Amino acid sequence: MTILSTPHFDIQPSTHTLGARILGLDLSKDLGRDCIDALILALGTYGVLSYPKQNLNASELTRFSAKFGELEINVANSYQEPGMPQVMILSNMVENGKPLGIADAGQDWHTDMSYSKMVAFTNVLYGIKIPFRNGVSLGNTVFCNMHQAYAELPQTLKEKIQGQSATHDFSKFWDKMRAEKGSTRPPLTPAQKLAKPPVSHPLTLRHPITQKTVLYANPGYTMHIDGMQASESEEILQTLFAHQLQERFQYKHHWQEGDVLMWDNLGTIHNAVADYLPHEHRYIKRCQVMATRFFNDDGSPKTPPIHS
Ligand code: SIN
Repeated sequence: MTILSTPHFDIQPSTHTLGARILGLDLSKDLGRDCIDALILALGTYGVLSYPKQNLNASELTRFSAKFGELEINVANSYQEPGMPQVMILSNMVENGKPLGIADAGQDWHTDMSYSKMVAFTNVLYGIKIPFRNGVSLGNTVFCNMHQAYAELPQTLKEKIQGQSATHDFSKFWDKMRAEKGSTRPPLTPAQKLAKPPVSHPLTLRHPITQKTVLYANPGYTMHIDGMQASESEEILQTLFAHQLQERFQYKHHWQEGDVLMWDNLGTIHNAVADYLPHEHRYIKRCQVMATRFFNDDGSPKTPPIHS
């Protein structure tokens, strides 16, 4: 087992395409800038970081997450920690007939906040209750590596998408989840739709940490390639989606209670696997960190990327 030591923490890389465990950090403490900068570097390198055996309250989760950038308040405006709208509850638990959280968050392939003008840098999830069956964790989160997906695209496809942008829409994922059997998601209100109109992003990005090219498209939110005939756009997008989901690009995080899991939304896409039953309880608190440290409001990259 490889362990890499840094002045602030140890890194145990997974043997897969993504993922590393960060050891020796207590996230309830106020971590210094140098430590956060080292974590940002690790996040760019490994895509998904997990911190086992943490014990956090919602303020500590918020303080840790906010070290990485501005926190998003989700447009759905529901299932938030009381008094802390930046903390969202993801859960299938129901108390006195009332759901405690959003039950189907992220249950299909997507990248968080690609529907937003300011995209997401990282999500920080704190696993408080994780379902287990026969000793095996359920509701695991699977990721795909968008550095590798871009690198392994056929040259002709790279050329086709070079310089192209695509439109992303919050409603696409919301409506797909609503169509699932048993969904309790209400239709989006006109005000919610207005708050998150469709936005355009380049199909490839220079990753602000690794400086390498990543594929920036995902089945959850990407609607069409801008300015392209609908049939051609659909054909290319479906090819990209099939390509990016290949098993060799995948890594699964097997949750344990007390894990904090964070991932780089610019270099990965993910899917929360819905393989547990209503009585198998999952309860997770989540902060979403916008990519404000890397991009200006108009989407142009900040130069040089700001690390502190
Ligand atoms: C998300 O997409 O932010 C949720 C992922 C998860 O619950 O595993």
